[in-house]
Amino acid sequence: MTQASFPATRLRRTRAHGWSRTMHRETVLTPADLIWPLFVTSGTGVEEPIASLPGVSRWSVDGIAKRAREAVNLGIPCIALFPNTPANLRSEDANEALHSDNLMCRAVRTVRDACGDDIGILTDVALDPYTSHGQDGLLDARGYVTNDDTVAVLVDQAINQAEAGADIIAPSDMMDGRVRAIRMALEMNDHPNVQIMAYAAKYASAFYGPFRVAVGSGGLLKGDKKSYQMDPANADEALREIAMDIAEGADSVMVKPGLAYLDIIYRARQRFEVPVFAYQVSGEYALIEAGVAAGIGDRDALVMEKLIAFKRAGCSGILTYFAPLAARLLRG
Ligand code: PBG
Repeated sequence: MTQASFPATRLRRTRAHGWSRTMHRETVLTPADLIWPLFVTSGTGVEEPIASLPGVSRWSVDGIAKRAREAVNLGIPCIALFPNTPANLRSEDANEALHSDNLMCRAVRTVRDACGDDIGILTDVALDPYTSHGQDGLLDARGYVTNDDTVAVLVDQAINQAEAGADIIAPSDMMDGRVRAIRMALEMNDHPNVQIMAYAAKYASAFYGPFRVAVGSGGLLKGDKKSYQMDPANADEALREIAMDIAEGADSVMVKPGLAYLDIIYRARQRFEVPVFAYQVSGEYALIEAGVAAGIGDRDALVMEKLIAFKRAGCSGILTYFAPLAARLLRG
């Protein structure tokens, strides 16, 4: 053997033992990185398994409070709530979104009673769980989702949620100017410390299907959401969206869906000093579950590899239906 036949550097050296791999790990995921989305349904003592999301259920508010307590025990700092509004309470104008005793507000109050300040409660602002047509905003005579009229309702929806005790308002509607309007209304209504996590770069994605089944808007929706959600082909525009939402007063921003948009997360982190969250959406969850059912691999390994990818790309945290599973695995 000549000296020249040895590699100058052996990158495998640090990979040879478990302790060494641990020591050289660049990115860590902890339960504190996770936000757990939960679906709320009517009644008491109700659990409705969601066929489109195997392993995920809708819970009545008492069950939501138990899940919130579970989250606290697992070290998950925040839950995100989504209501499955009863069909008879859905309307053209989404008025149910403004009622102080709607499912969302009842869930917020019940969680607060059960967990106090041990958990953050994030509430989604958009009208799709409340409209009879399944769109996120109000329609004009031609069926176009209006911007400014919708924003006026979103502001009232956000205040209603803040009054119930929400910690983070998360507008997922993609109307222009809504972050500023909501921020001003929160300030004027004595909620200066209620945060806004803006779904800043939200794409018109085919991966939301199982979610729409879960909140009961899927069967109602005609057409698509392309006149307000972003074109998956666009990246520079996502940075404009994020810049606008920061300027309008967002405390943190979200990129959604997650894995197919890691480039957006990465670029957002390079460009802005703002916390960036990713939403691993329902279709991403369902694909993993379908893959596991088809025998393509081990669920735990598949899930953890995807979640670490979000951290590696620069995320502060991840909204994921796998939150309790991941937290359990991380806690050993
Ligand atoms: C509502 C909303 C959607 C999701 C979160 N908030 C659906 C949509 O925009 O149609 C999707 C979440 C998921 O798929 O897990 N505006």
